[in-house]
Amino acid sequence: MNDLFIYTASIRNILAIFGLVKTVVSGIRSTGNLHLGNYFGAIKNFLRMQEQERCFFFIADYHSLTTHPTPADLHANVRQVLVEYLACGIDPEKSTIYIQSDLPETAELYLLLNMNAYMGELERCTSFKEKIRKHPGNINAGLLTYPVLMAADILIHKADYVPVGKDQEQHLEMTRTFANRFNRMYNQEYFPEPVAYNFGTELVKIPGLDGSGKMGKSEAEGNAVMLADSPEVIRKKVMKAMTDEGPKEINQQKPEVIENLFTLMKTVSTEETVAHFDDLYNSMKMRYGDMKKQLAEDMIAFIYPIRERILELAKDDIYINKVVKKGAEKAKESAGKTVGEVREMIGFRKF
Ligand code: TRP
Repeated sequence: MNDLFIYTASIRNILAIFGLVKTVVSGIRSTGNLHLGNYFGAIKNFLRMQEQERCFFFIADYHSLTTHPTPADLHANVRQVLVEYLACGIDPEKSTIYIQSDLPETAELYLLLNMNAYMGELERCTSFKEKIRKHPGNINAGLLTYPVLMAADILIHKADYVPVGKDQEQHLEMTRTFANRFNRMYNQEYFPEPVAYNFGTELVKIPGLDGSGKMGKSEAEGNAVMLADSPEVIRKKVMKAMTDEGPKEINQQKPEVIENLFTLMKTVSTEETVAHFDDLYNSMKMRYGDMKKQLAEDMIAFIYPIRERILELAKDDIYINKVVKKGAEKAKESAGKTVGEVREMIGFRKF
């Protein structure tokens, strides 16, 4: 890519050494299409961070092996996630975007950290307990050590900040435990203690369309609006969104499903539009059909440029390959340095 980018990246690397720029790492699960919840819950933050900090965003394809995808599915999902993140504006000239498995250094650090990760603490991890409850037929060692791999992802770039949601807080706590344990063991202040960071703002939780509190891929069909959805699909999904019989009193408090609809509207519509429907609700003149129509059109307008980029990028193998290669190179520089230093601290000799 261009010289300006190399220049910006190396300046940020230097500033990071002096602690003037923070190092940010976040992993993205390669589970296919992104939805509006992902956009407003995570990606929007990434876009702000990449303007200021030294950012590494990677697609966690090693992690996805815990559920045994077929090679074709794995490949297609990784590519789709990459395309969608780029379409949203994650910029390979500002951030380092890479695929986890392109960095076998991560696997080495994972192996080394595993030696000081204890069975008891891994078994107590909430996400592990949940997974064995949901998938009793597939309790593999990769699931048990999932938090160690995640710690390796974060520590390999000596991250300060990890922009993740609440559900990852425990994993981050474990990362700090592993980092401190390593530091103590080798009497060094080597790894910084990474903390969750989301620009000082509470993350917006984006509700689903089916009345559930959260937009998610694994929820019911029609619950999530995908960034790759066509206008027709969006209209159909939004028109089916759950509502109730309407307000029974002037200025009554909105029940949760209706509040959810307003929350969605606040993400994509203008303040005037939201205020307009709020007034209608409060004066009991609300017709949900009108609100949904407006919501669908505003979602379509918001998604339109992203979707166009998705369709364009999906065809551009040359560009995608270039991004992947460049990202792997940049990530390797940082990871190779860390693993080299760790090997030395541990006592592996260079012969
Ligand atoms: N566990 C994270 C999730 O489920 C994904 C992830 C893997 C990650 N490695 C990471 C997130 C490192 C932040 C940093 O969403």
